[in-house]
Amino acid sequence: MNPLSHCYLGSLLLLITWLFPASGFFPNIWSLVAAPSSITHQDLTEEAVLNVTLQLFLERPPSGRSPLHLEDFQGQTLLADDLFGAYFGLGTPTRHFRAALGEVARANAAQDFLSVTKHNPELHFDAEQLVGSRARLLGSLQEALSAARALEYALARQRLGAMLHTLQDFYSHSNWVELGKQQPHPDLLWPGRKLKNLAQVGDLMCSDCEELSCPGNLLNSIFLTSGYFGAKPPKPPGKCSHGGHFDQGSHDIPRGGINKDSTSPMFSPHHALHPQAAQLAFQASIQALNLLRDRLGDTGFSRLLQISPASGLSFVLDTTGSMREEINAAKMQARKIIDQHRGGPMEPTHYILVPFHDPGFGPVLKTSDPDAFWKHLNEIHALGGGDEPEMCLSALELALLHTPQFSDIFVFTDASPKDVHLTRRIEALSQKQHCKVTFLVTEDPSRRIRREVLFPKRFEPYEAIARASGGEVIFTKDKHIQNVASVMGESMMDMVTLALVPPVLPCKEPLVFHVDKLLHGVIIHLHGEISTFRISDPSGISQDIYQDQGPLGHIQCFGQFWTVSLKDPPQVGAWLIAITAQGTPAVRVKAKTSLDFLFSFGIPIENGPHPGLYPLSQPVTGLHTLLLVEVMGLVSGILEMNHFYIILRGSSKGEELGHVALEPTGIPKRGLFTALLDPKLLLIQRPFFLELIGQDDRGSSLQRVASQPCIVVPVLLELSGPSNSLSPGHQALLSFRISSFSGPWDLIITASVRPSFPFTSNLSRVHLEKNESVWGQIWLQVPDSATLDSLVTVIVTAETMSNNPSPSAHAFLQLFVQSFSQQEQLDDPGPSSRPSHNTAGPELYTSTLEPQRDGAAGTIRAEPWWKLLLMLSIATW
Ligand SMILES: *[C@@H]1O[C@H](CO)[C@@H](O)[C@H](O)[C@H]1NC(C)=O
Ligand SMILES: *[C@@H]1O[C@H](CO)[C@@H](O)[C@H](O)[C@H]1NC(C)=O
Ligand SMILES: *[C@@H]1O[C@H](CO)[C@@H](O)[C@H](O)[C@H]1NC(C)=O
Repeated sequence: MNPLSHCYLGSLLLLITWLFPASGFFPNIWSLVAAPSSITHQDLTEEAVLNVTLQLFLERPPSGRSPLHLEDFQGQTLLADDLFGAYFGLGTPTRHFRAALGEVARANAAQDFLSVTKHNPELHFDAEQLVGSRARLLGSLQEALSAARALEYALARQRLGAMLHTLQDFYSHSNWVELGKQQPHPDLLWPGRKLKNLAQVGDLMCSDCEELSCPGNLLNSIFLTSGYFGAKPPKPPGKCSHGGHFDQGSHDIPRGGINKDSTSPMFSPHHALHPQAAQLAFQASIQALNLLRDRLGDTGFSRLLQISPASGLSFVLDTTGSMREEINAAKMQARKIIDQHRGGPMEPTHYILVPFHDPGFGPVLKTSDPDAFWKHLNEIHALGGGDEPEMCLSALELALLHTPQFSDIFVFTDASPKDVHLTRRIEALSQKQHCKVTFLVTEDPSRRIRREVLFPKRFEPYEAIARASGGEVIFTKDKHIQNVASVMGESMMDMVTLALVPPVLPCKEPLVFHVDKLLHGVIIHLHGEISTFRISDPSGISQDIYQDQGPLGHIQCFGQFWTVSLKDPPQVGAWLIAITAQGTPAVRVKAKTSLDFLFSFGIPIENGPHPGLYPLSQPVTGLHTLLLVEVMGLVSGILEMNHFYIILRGSSKGEELGHVALEPTGIPKRGLFTALLDPKLLLIQRPFFLELIGQDDRGSSLQRVASQPCIVVPVLLELSGPSNSLSPGHQALLSFRISSFSGPWDLIITASVRPSFPFTSNLSRVHLEKNESVWGQIWLQVPDSATLDSLVTVIVTAETMSNNPSPSAHAFLQLFVQSFSQQEQLDDPGPSSRPSHNTAGPELYTSTLEPQRDGAAGTIRAEPWWKLLLMLSIATW
């Protein structure tokens, strides 16, 4: 166990980024806090994806709408909202696209932070490992392609992010720019071609440079080289260093370095060439994306980047004998959704079906062809048998592992789960996948043959999963299941859930919800033992339970389930719902809107090699955590951007736990905001919701609630695997690290692999004091019989052993099975193929290197501010 001596996670980076004019080719947004004009991996990735998306929209005019014009977008920052508005219609939600973009950008950034990737020179084109780095790059590209072809787009996005990172690093870490190149390297992305003019062992490349800024330290060579970082591997005599504050190796002669990561001399000796390096990295990223588009086709490429407002449709279906009605209901619901949306922008991008039937579950059917899905679903019949309980959660886990993010999953069953031990893992997985799970439970106790008396709390795991995922559990009867399923299906497509006050039922007072002018299509669902309810609009007009068609809208009732569709446009202001009921009724108000938000967490890391924001899926107790909020659907002129803040609200009692102001970050129209969360706020052991509060142009309040609650986990759990794919018959080594920033903690560590390949792990229990961390390893045996082109998911869980259990930390890692021989050659493109602007210029052997000067020109004078910082850093690191 090593104390995290280097892991001071505090305000220093904040200080650095505030004071330094820029930091770029740093991983992500964090540098934007200080320097709106800096260029990071995240910027390069997002801008390249938007550029290629626009290209796709231009080449495939929207059906039934006027085509887009390049002139409308040229010379300005491309925004997802604008592109989608022009293509699909104004106000079209960009949630899925932005989420996919976030996944790629975070996978890209993670390469700089994960313990196993951050110092590997081959992943960063460091240490003259140009051939090895190129092989890695092609390996990731190939895997992204294969995973996308197998419809495993989430994995494909991970690999795409990793690939783009390595590709972009080439331009910052090598001397390609210094060689005077004006175009991306013509041979990097094509395995058939050889990298030429590589510097060999013994070629002297760099001269000594004692200044921060080293514009002339490359010896006048025509050979391609890259900088050595730190001591792994050590820098041979005469070779270049990466350089900058974090590179200890750059103190050895030849001192200095060549990286163009940022425009700051503190970090980048070749800071002056940062813009050129970024421009080439941007163009190369576009080439790589175009290559993927070329290989996957426009449809496959759109699915990879979720260039669609629609989500996936996923069913988990109990097929025991008693389930005839439910199976029919699922069929009807699917049919209706398919027919309603066919050919339109909201047509589901994927269809997933996982049947279960005691004791078995699966296999998973995944397709993007609605007819194939329908045919398959139609062939499912109830199969007899059926003692309560069933393997429902195992089936649900399988569905979650294969369903795209931000989708709805419907579980049809009449039995409680047998595999209750999976509950917490599934809660975590549903949050990682941002999938809402809705259980449609037909409770008809007479139907099943039972061996034992039923436990009254047997459906509690469903309730817990529904709560954690933002879904619902709806109990219904055979004769209503079809209608209820159909209503639930209609309301799944891109709706937000509105906050209710008070948030917790039952209560004596009427419930209040607020309608703002960016909401429409409001639907209210009520369910439970309700005797009456009355809905009132802000002007006092009301409609009650008996009025099917009333002044406010249309009410339908199916057993104990009511659905109210309000007329459009709904009146802006506070609406009331007064209910009398037995027990605890459930009430949901949903609406359509373009205004919504995504959020993620990160920790500011400043101890190199590249400072930035380490992406976290959940906040960790004791860490200074940054909350990132991405507001979507900002329509210029309608919103007052400066008044956004976030409330943290306990999800079980609805109490306010704290609130934080949001700082606009980066280009204002992108809608990015950050807030540093006080570690005291993150000592909460209970789940909480994030509520976004803002104002429109008239000062009226706008409010959106995250669809799922957050939890603060006790420890940071990092899981990393081999950077290439798994092969049948081989062993793979995975490592994980658990770090505590609070505690002490006694933890139980468990791992599981889906499908269940054999594995061993060397860590099952650990005691961690504050600031301690521990490494564990997993040896995974991939059987000879493993299916090629299939997904393997490894899940590691760290649970606390105390009497008052905190939430457990989970890490998920997706890997892909491929045979060694499967390495398809990414052939050299013909002249007509898309990536065509990549020919090397005639300047192949010229060089723009300037003769070495005496350190006067281009050197930065020692300004007091950075001296101060340098001292500060020495004191802290
Ligand atoms: C843990 O690390 C932080 C930051 O370096 C330090 O302030 C704190 O005193 C350390 N705590 C313990 C118990 O070592
Ligand atoms: C997309 O990128 C290319 C290559 O850098 C550039 O020429 C083009 O102007 C970009 N398109 C837009 C709309 O910015
Ligand atoms: C597990 O094995 C790895 C590699 O041998 C080692 O680095 C690590 O410390 C081990 N962990 C434990 C808890 O023994």
